[in-house]
Amino acid sequence: MTLIHSVILTKFNTMTVDNCRIVQLPKFLDVRGNLSFVEQLNHIPFEIKRTYWIYDVPGGENRGGHAFRENQEFVIALSGSFDVVVDDGEKQNTYTLNRSYYGLYIPRGLWRTMENFSTNSLALEFGSIHYDESDYIYDYAEFKTMKHDGKI
Ligand code: TYD
Repeated sequence: MTLIHSVILTKFNTMTVDNCRIVQLPKFLDVRGNLSFVEQLNHIPFEIKRTYWIYDVPGGENRGGHAFRENQEFVIALSGSFDVVVDDGEKQNTYTLNRSYYGLYIPRGLWRTMENFSTNSLALEFGSIHYDESDYIYDYAEFKTMKHDGKI
């Protein structure tokens, strides 16, 4: 592959906030209580390698504040509500998650922060890779430069 091809391919693969999407999950309404579910490679467009959850968030605290080089995410507000702010270095979008039958798909290569957690909120997150500290970018200026150069 020539350098120019590699540059074009890298740029082509660069994700923007427009690559995020809200996915409506199935819901079975029932007087005994409602049920929803999620399946990999169906509602979640990747193989799930990891599941984690965020809970007991004190009022006013934020989570996230980083980007992933490779990891894709799928986020559900299982309980309560919170905002997910995604940022591609040029544009920001805020998604308010407040129903357990909606998920937010976040591709790799976006800066994302989670904020405005309600009392007793529970955020369930699925990831496309195992935990890897080196996949994180914690410096926003570095992220912006990488984004500008099409490196992420
Ligand atoms: P981090 O992803 O920085 O949390 P957030 O983005 O919500 O602010 O993770 C916080 C800590 O938890 C970090 O020190 C590593 C650990 N951790 C794991 O060991 N495995 C995981 O899957 C995750 C998400 C975090």
